[in-house]
Amino acid sequence: MAIISSKKQPHDSSKEPKQHQVPSPAPAKKSILQPEAAIEEQGKQEESMRPQQFADYIGQKDLKDVLEIAIKAAKSRKEVLDHLLLYGPPGLGKTTMAMILAAEMGVNCTLTSAPALERPRDIVGLLVNLKPGDILFIDEIHRLSRMAEEILYPAMEDYRLDITIGKGSSARTRSISLSKFTLVGATTRVGALTSPLRDRFGLIQKLKFYEVEELSQIIQRSARLLNTTITEDGAREIARRSRGTPRIANRLLKRVRDYAEVKSFQTITETVAAEALQLFQVDPCGLDWTDRRLLSTIIEQFHGGPVGLETIAAATGEDTQTIEELYEPYLMQIGYLCRTPRGRVAQAAAYKHLGFKPPQQEQLSLLQ
Ligand code: ADE
Repeated sequence: MAIISSKKQPHDSSKEPKQHQVPSPAPAKKSILQPEAAIEEQGKQEESMRPQQFADYIGQKDLKDVLEIAIKAAKSRKEVLDHLLLYGPPGLGKTTMAMILAAEMGVNCTLTSAPALERPRDIVGLLVNLKPGDILFIDEIHRLSRMAEEILYPAMEDYRLDITIGKGSSARTRSISLSKFTLVGATTRVGALTSPLRDRFGLIQKLKFYEVEELSQIIQRSARLLNTTITEDGAREIARRSRGTPRIANRLLKRVRDYAEVKSFQTITETVAAEALQLFQVDPCGLDWTDRRLLSTIIEQFHGGPVGLETIAAATGEDTQTIEELYEPYLMQIGYLCRTPRGRVAQAAAYKHLGFKPPQQEQLSLLQ
């Protein structure tokens, strides 16, 4: 993610931290869920569809309640918000939430991601430029380097930057005061954060998968912004196939809109949505080609499991991180897959969905 500030500032791109992308093996087949698809499609339109305030944000009621209290309390005490750690699967709205927080507090929000903060000066540069109350959003915070983390500790705790000048016996430490700011960290892997970093967040909140009704409302709102006509049933059909994830819901909506336009349908109905999504190989449960391949590999090649993540990755040509962070959370949520200490196990519902005969119940519990 590029470093973006919510307030337009002149900047010299030659001084920006380098973008860092983790290479992943070429997937066997392109999927509408895959990160490459996300990067390709992230554009102005996606930005314009983001809700700008809590009133427009659908879903995540518990989280909104907690944050609204924190905002009111901070505003009434004229203090900055506590540091906040948001965790949960990708696409549920962690970045959007940070931007809404900034808008509600009336402050700037600077967006970056941990892989872009390779050198100490990258994070130092961001910290010294923060104004009082500003929000610094660091995505994928579990990937911060050790050095960047150590710079963050005094910054988060005492709004202080400790800089070492010189080397060896002549080294001196100097402290610089920073503006009081709020760090919003986002991660898909809260367990991968070091405990000193995790302990410095005053608020740790999980984003949950969305209900079909919530996604249906999000799709209807996005359709209005895209000037597309959709029926309630049409929106619900897309919502059912969106894996509880607004980012996927909006992406599917755009694909269905393309289909409707090309086929000259004026309105996206349930039938139009179902036809379009079948064409894009997104099945009625929202599983795509890769989900089905992961499950059928476990069932057909490994007798339903338990089988290790590395083995599944090797057998399918996917990388372990993509499987773990992008595919598995939803498969576990809908009860198709189980993570056990001995490996992954396909559940009876997955057998049925893919048309295999499920093993006997006793056998399934023996496998776990
Ligand atoms: N677009 C993406 N996520 C959304 C949400 N939670 N509410 C409204 N619109 C959205």
